[in-house]
Amino acid sequence: MSRLNNCIKFNIPGNTDSRGSLCFIENKCPIPFEIQRVYWLYDINDGMCRGGHAHKELHQIMVPISGSFNIKLFDGHNKKVINLNSPSIGLYICPMIWRELFDFSSNAVCMVLASQRYTESDYYRNITDFINQTGYQ
Ligand code: TYD
Repeated sequence: MSRLNNCIKFNIPGNTDSRGSLCFIENKCPIPFEIQRVYWLYDINDGMCRGGHAHKELHQIMVPISGSFNIKLFDGHNKKVINLNSPSIGLYICPMIWRELFDFSSNAVCMVLASQRYTESDYYRNITDFINQTGYQ
């Protein structure tokens, strides 16, 4: 089975009333990993891509807090492209997935919830090194 099958879009729990909407994600709920870090991408310059790496052990949730963008996911063999465009729909990305974020709308903000603090040694920044570790070469 492809690891890509583990990477799912999910509805974020929330509340909507006459004032508007809010969404919430708690530790281990609804995606069961412990949140150790939150960061966000914003002011993305026209035509720029982010990502271009994989993580050895990190679990992440991406939420398009504002605007929209596409994410290409690659497990070393299979690829898929996901569009994120609603602040009430998140994307879970499991470890060992190469990701590239692109086609950001002008106002896009991507919030990321991560299972570990920033650890450079958890990254594959070279795609050949990543593919070599996946067993798919
Ligand atoms: P990087 O992970 O390459 O960004 P992206 O995947 O969004 O394109 O990170 C860019 C820089 O920021 C890099 O020098 C590492 C640093 N950084 C931190 O110091 N802490 C963090 O939590 C993150 C995500 C990045």
